Amino acid sequence: MTGTSVLKRLALITAVLFAVLLTVLSLPARPAGADDDDESAGAKFSAEAAATFNKRCTACHTFGKGVKVGPDLKDVTKRRDRPWLHKFIRGSSSVIASGDSVATKLFAEFRQQRMPDWVDLSEKQVDDILDYLAMSGPDIKPADERNAELATAADVDHGRKLFLGETALKYGSEACITCHAVEGAGLRNGSLGPNLTDAYERYQDLALTAFLRKPCFRWQRGSADHYLTAKESFAIKAFLRDRSVHHGAGSNTGSHTPVSAQVIPGNQKRGNQ
Ligand code: HEC
Ligand code: HEC
Repeated sequence: MTGTSVLKRLALITAVLFAVLLTVLSLPARPAGADDDDESAGAKFSAEAAATFNKRCTACHTFGKGVKVGPDLKDVTKRRDRPWLHKFIRGSSSVIASGDSVATKLFAEFRQQRMPDWVDLSEKQVDDILDYLAMSGPDIKPADERNAELATAADVDHGRKLFLGETALKYGSEACITCHAVEGAGLRNGSLGPNLTDAYERYQDLALTAFLRKPCFRWQRGSADHYLTAKESFAIKAFLRDRSVHHGAGSNTGSHTPVSAQVIPGNQKRGNQ
């Protein structure tokens, strides 16, 4: 390795570490809407409820990590009934004032601070938050946070089609191939952005996940809130990992279709997605 390429590599590693620090450690919740087509662990997952919970409740409550300013909300839907929870969340001060025994006890225990009355949350929004808690929503990882090692061949293939623009991205974002080259993509390689053949290896799973949550280039179509769905992001990550592995291993794993056979137009089965 030459001096300049060592320097380049160091600069890259620094940039990647920064990306990790800034984005992953604070693990921003995926923006509302971005998970709309996702079902996690077989349950219908409300992205809006998750976002509301993260924005309005987690300053004072944990889910399964103990008391914070208020009680741990894990299993709260088991220890209290729904009508009580509705009343309490939207107007805890009047429930406490009414002399309700549970509320009085809670209030005495958490005397330092009072829970705000969430009057602006509708019945439906509160219901959705309670459903989200009941299904252990805060413990469910968005689909894009799964490690790409867990991807199936179908995921990789889906990612390849998204990358090449054979399958349109849900929010109308431009296909990666418009600007990026990746080994095995034939003549359609774009060159405005860096070659991504070993991007997965360079970034590693977590940093790449964080990176893919926003458009990588400011002129690109697609907004920060509506760039890739969690599933698309996971599939593309899986495809990049596959490229990276082939690249690093010299394509000798034998378990994958050779790159050339995968990308010749008309040489692939379509459909079923
Ligand atoms: C500023 C801090 C704060 C915020 C923000 C907050 N809470 Fe609370 N919460 C509390 C406190 C403190 C209590 C204990 C009762 C009291 O003292 O008012 C409590 C109690 C509760 C309880 C009753 C727990 C039990 O064990 O019965 C529920 C349910 C609850 N909060 C839900 C929520 C939800 C849902 C949100 C977000 C929409 C939220 N809280 C936001 C401070 C907060
Ligand atoms: C409109 C052009 C364009 C499109 C479309 C685009 N990118 Fe990029 N991408 C860029 C440019 C330019 C950079 C370099 C940005 C920089 O260095 O600041 C970049 C950087 C990256 C990087 C970091 C590369 C490195 O070596 O550090 C990754 C990863 C990436 N893009 C992935 C993607 C994926 C995945 C898609 C498709 C979902 C995509 N990009 C779509 C232009 C684009």
